This record gives sequence, structure tokens and C-alpha cells, in this order.
Amino acid sequence: MTGEALRSERLRKVYTTRGGPSVEALAGVSMEVRRGERVALLGRNGAGKTTFLKIASTLLRPTSGSIEVFGHDVARNPDRARPYIAVVPQEGKPFFHLTPREQVYTYLRTRGLSRETAKARTEESLERMGLTEIADRLAITLSGGQRQRTMVATVIATEAPLLFLDEPSIGMDPFARRDVWESLRTLTQRGSTILLTTHYLDEAEALSHRLYIVERGEVLVSGTADDLKRSVGGTLKVTIPQGAVQVDAFRSFGACVADGEHLSVIVAPERIGELMDLAVRSRLTATVGPVTLEEAFLRVVGRSINEE
Ligand SMILES: Nc1ncnc2c1ncn2[C@@H]1O[C@H](COP(=O)(O)OP(=O)(O)OP(=O)(O)O)[C@@H](O)[C@H]1O
Ligand SMILES: [Mg+2]
Repeated sequence: MTGEALRSERLRKVYTTRGGPSVEALAGVSMEVRRGERVALLGRNGAGKTTFLKIASTLLRPTSGSIEVFGHDVARNPDRARPYIAVVPQEGKPFFHLTPREQVYTYLRTRGLSRETAKARTEESLERMGLTEIADRLAITLSGGQRQRTMVATVIATEAPLLFLDEPSIGMDPFARRDVWESLRTLTQRGSTILLTTHYLDEAEALSHRLYIVERGEVLVSGTADDLKRSVGGTLKVTIPQGAVQVDAFRSFGACVADGEHLSVIVAPERIGELMDLAVRSRLTATVGPVTLEEAFLRVVGRSINEE
């Protein structure tokens, strides 16, 4: 077997709708995910993330191009690929008339796990996702975040070799999100591979080894979070609360974003002293912090939108 869990080549998907215009949701996406990796798929609403995950998880057929899961062609041999994968779909809901405990257990049994294994995995997974106390309540009585935790618990309990999670932590509180991160890290330590989407860029940063940014159905950039930050011209951000009026004085240091009176400048570490001197001479207060992935994302995707 190869070292790859997933590989797609020039994957295209055109949705044709009756009466309406067709939509090219994927315009040739090539990517690969190595075994044991956690990879995040980022992109604006409508970029094509869910379409990609649906095709990868055999729920949708591509228009052209190829995609393989552990060497099995997903479109040609979906039955071969399916045992390797488990999916948390976007906006999925647990069955209303099942409890979290029943939901997780039943799903594991339908995947062919023995009673003993299914029972042990169910309990471990409920515990990991903080569901033990509410494990015997009907899903219909659970809060939105509790239902989403149940969805994630169901899928992590499979310990499938390849997990697809489409916005797994949507609607979860900050503690629950960290439970998800911890569970996914444990799974990859045990040998699983993870491909997830998220709009929480702190989550993408905390969790993923690598990321792909998709824009209008194409891969815009790929690499580590640090690669992406460096690509916007620096890894530090200087915040100058009253700096907007003097933006021209700071432009030579790097990308400037004025927001009301507020100015932020993305700058390389070697120029930070010079910039701070200028701020002091201009009688401006300035603070230095790291560039976040969100800022890098806004700049990289924003640049691409402006080029259109
Ligand atoms: N069944 C469908 N029929 C027609 N167009 C569709 C269908 N599903 C998705 N699309 C379109 O395909 C494009 C990609 O949608 P997709 O759901 O893959 O985006 P996404 O990146 O997951 O967005 P989000 O962040 O909002 O979940 C969008 O323009 C969307 O409107
Ligand atoms: Mg989506």
C-alpha cells in the first residue's frame, strides 16, 4: 500500500440544475493527504469544500478527474472505498428518536463491529465528547451543540482509517471544540487520517498539519499555517490604534490595513525595531503580536478576489 490516504487529480464537478444555469463547483482540484495527516480544507462559502468531501466520501459522482482513497478509485469502486471512511456531513443531525448512546452503538454495529468492541468504543467516545451525562436522552431533547457533539462522537468511535469532517465543531462551545481537537489528535496518533473543513481559523491552526485554501473550485494555496503567514509578507503584526491617519508613513514596512482609526501592519521580524522607532517619533502607541491565520487567509483570498 502507498503512503497516501487520499489523492485527487483534476477533480471537476459541474452541478446541472433544471432550468437554472449549471454551476462549476470544482474546477480541477488536485490534492493528496498522507496517512496519519490532519489536513484542513479552508475557503469562503460556496468555494467547493463540501462538494469535494461529498465526492471523496462516495456520496456524489465527479464530472471528471479522479479521486482515490487508499488506492481505491472512489467513483468506480465506491464499495471498496467505503469501509475505509467515515463522515460527519455538514448540517448532519442524529436520529431524533435515538439517544446518543444508541446512535453511536447502532452505527458501529451497522459497520460490522462486534458487540463488545462497539460497546467499549461507544462508551469511550461518549466520554471523550462529554456526553456521558446526557447519553440516554432522546436526541430531539438535546441542544444544538449537544447534537453536533453526538455526530462527532459517532464518527470518531468508528476509528476509520480516513475521517471526513465537514465543519465538525460548528455551534460548539470553546470547551467542546477542544474536546474535538483532542479526539482527532488521538485518532491520528492511532493511525487514522483526517480531512476536515472549518471556518474557525484558530481551529485549523491548532489542528492541521497542512491546509488547502479552495477558492471558486480551485486550490489557491497549500502548505502549513506558517507557510501561509510568511506568504503575506511577515509573521508579526503591529497594531497602532490611532495610526490610520498616518498610513502612508507605514506602507513601506508591509501590508497595511486601516479599520476606522485603527491601523495594522504585517511586518517581517527584522524590521520591527525600525517600525517601532517610527511609531514613537510619531507619538503613536503600538503593540506587536503574531500574525494570525485568519489575517493571512483574509489577505491571500482577498488578493485573489481583487485580481478577478
Ligand atoms: N446540489 C447542488 N446543485 C447546484 N449547485 C450546488 C449544489 N450543491 C452546491 N452547489 C453550488 O456549488 C458551489 C460549491 O458549494 P459547496 O457546498 O461545495 O461549498 P462550501 O465550500 O462547502 O461552502 P460553505 O462554506 O458555505 O459550506 C456553490 O456555488 C453552491 O451553490
Ligand atoms: Mg460546505
